[in-house]
Amino acid sequence: MTELEQLTRLCQNLGSDPAQAAVMAGQLQKRAGQLVAERGLTREAAMKYLLELVVKGRHGEAPPESLAPVFPMREQLIALFQSAYGRAPDVMVRAPGRIEFIGNHTDYNGGPVLGASIDRQVWVGLARRTDGRRQFVSDTRGEVVAFPSAEIKKVSGAQRWVNYPLGVLAALPAFGLRAPEGFDYGVMSDLPSGAGLSSSAAIELASGLAFLEATDQHPPRQTLVEVGLRAENEFVGVPCGILDQGVSGFGKKGHLVFIDCQGPHFSTVPLPAGAHFWIFNTHTKHALVDGLYAARHQECMDAARTLGVKALVDVTPAALAAAEGKLPVTIFKRAKHVVEEIARVQACVAALQAGDLAAVGKLLVASHHSSRTWFENSTAELDFLVEQLTDAPAVYGARLTGGGFGGAVMALTSEKFGRAQAEAIASAYAKKFGTAPDVLRTQTGDGAMRVA
Ligand code: GLA
Repeated sequence: MTELEQLTRLCQNLGSDPAQAAVMAGQLQKRAGQLVAERGLTREAAMKYLLELVVKGRHGEAPPESLAPVFPMREQLIALFQSAYGRAPDVMVRAPGRIEFIGNHTDYNGGPVLGASIDRQVWVGLARRTDGRRQFVSDTRGEVVAFPSAEIKKVSGAQRWVNYPLGVLAALPAFGLRAPEGFDYGVMSDLPSGAGLSSSAAIELASGLAFLEATDQHPPRQTLVEVGLRAENEFVGVPCGILDQGVSGFGKKGHLVFIDCQGPHFSTVPLPAGAHFWIFNTHTKHALVDGLYAARHQECMDAARTLGVKALVDVTPAALAAAEGKLPVTIFKRAKHVVEEIARVQACVAALQAGDLAAVGKLLVASHHSSRTWFENSTAELDFLVEQLTDAPAVYGARLTGGGFGGAVMALTSEKFGRAQAEAIASAYAKKFGTAPDVLRTQTGDGAMRVA
């Protein structure tokens, strides 16, 4: 008897009908494979762990969240929807998180940026209501938040996550699009939040796509991206550029997303085979991170104004060098980072096209050094991880990813870099800083899409 047949029989013995049992057996095999890759378990240990969870779940001994790894997101979303609203969603969509590959703070300066959409996503389910009521539930906050009318007001406190879908509803009319009046909404995610992977853009894109699909509106993908960005800028109140929403919207498995932010224009660049991503989330966050991001944004705008251009993308390295003595030192440093980073993104596209991962890695490390020295958005924690990683064999390069001032480091590695090496770096970090970073191995995945 094959493993699949054995598992199918076991699931049947636990009370599933033959069709369900076959599906579940396949899911268990897939999940076991993931646990082997992600956690370094042997296949036997992974299977044992999963089967124990299934058996305990059947006997009501395991809390539902401990079953989360066993069941795919689709089933979990339907279960969440059923328990909150007593029915299944009409529409289900998902949108991925992103890694900022290279192009640090280039987006709002009109420059280019490269990002990867990853295989971790936010899922949203939606079912229309005829009474105009808008109801929201998430897997992390169990209770339903209800708004009796179509009035949209920003929420504070524990339920402030609702501001993401609310911001999207508020943004739709600005693009000539209709917001659905009444609906039940459910969201769940296997994308860690606060990990520098832009779960906020993912929830905006997933919410936007769900609202549009439920009302049979199919604008170009760029419009969905711009709706998400407007929600973030105008409603949530973060003055970010288009990187996060653009990558979540235009991602493609096996590719990086290239955004020329001046258009904006979106395209994809194939990622050479043998490239693997690791994320080290430090869980550190500068107390003033939002203010620091806004301050850097302002400094870049000041640099452009002083140099007589609309955006720093229009400044060449030679023009900047010529202006060095005329700019205040801080403004010069910020501009130097952005102008050189723009050149690095372009060089990186060429290196990717040539399949030269070693050259790509060097550009990633140079980007980090520039962030540290000129843009001053790195921290001791991020620098330590980048140093450890760049010293490790099988690592092409590493850099801080995202806004900086804490957050996460990403490493681009060959397949020879494994869990043991990652854990050794995490332990060295824990020795120095007290707590270990979260380590996540991830790969590219597709951009936002409807799944049901
Ligand atoms: C954050 C923002 C992005 C971008 C990066 C820095 O992730 O959301 O728009 O500006 O910082 O490159």
